[in-house]
Amino acid sequence: MRKKTNMSDRTLLLAGNWKMNHDHLEAISSVQKLAWALEDAKLDESRCEVVVIPPFTDIRSVQTLVQGDKLWLKYGAQDVSQHAPGAHTGEIAATFLTRLGCSYVVIGHSERRADNHETNEVVAAKVRAALSAELTPILCVGESLQQRQEKTHVDFTLDQLEESLAGFDASALEGLVIAYEPVWAIGTGETATAADAAEMAAAIRARLAEKYGNGMAESTRILYGGSVKADNVAEIVADADVDGALVGGASLSGPDFAALCKAAVAK
Ligand code: 13P
Repeated sequence: MRKKTNMSDRTLLLAGNWKMNHDHLEAISSVQKLAWALEDAKLDESRCEVVVIPPFTDIRSVQTLVQGDKLWLKYGAQDVSQHAPGAHTGEIAATFLTRLGCSYVVIGHSERRADNHETNEVVAAKVRAALSAELTPILCVGESLQQRQEKTHVDFTLDQLEESLAGFDASALEGLVIAYEPVWAIGTGETATAADAAEMAAAIRARLAEKYGNGMAESTRILYGGSVKADNVAEIVADADVDGALVGGASLSGPDFAALCKAAVAK
């Protein structure tokens, strides 16, 4: 595992994916508590970004709170349509999210790939839609338990990455965030070891360098996600290639998420 040095100028990113939890009233309370707890934690704001990713129906409430109270937090969405505004019932256009002040959008989460049959092709179209609306995609990739047991996890994840980014050149992908989330570690309490996360983050960065050049590879942030908690985050983000975490369950409580952020930054 490569240890972080002060040379890395990639800002640590701690993003809380609430999934389908918290209605808009609960969202207001959760973000308020998070903001208070972060203030108490006295995080060095130049060293990290903290992001909440609530359900669509909460975003307007989160925006009002963040802008009204001038909170330092950023927020985003859990999915986006690949289509431009028009006749697509139930879809949410990227430009709508930009108008709501979203900075980030999660794309290709394994739960959407499984529940909504999202293919790499659809994921690539969503990445394109997000980038054209100036949203930063958090592109999720990662293998199943079977692939891990068969030791095909690196090849599988890198193929998924390439196919989910098919048709882009390096300049289009500036600012992209990639989240490595092994499916078997999501919501199971089963965390990949820091060495597993480091292995895949290094493999992803090497593949980005091969495809898009060193500049793009070095500036892309790679997160780990899967049962990250306050007591394991520091070890995971200590690796030079791991630039933060995409957190599910442990981001639902404001104080818990703030404690996690503090533990990550302390490293
Ligand atoms: P958990 O942290 O609950 O395992 O969820 C991880 C995840 O899927 C974040 O996107």
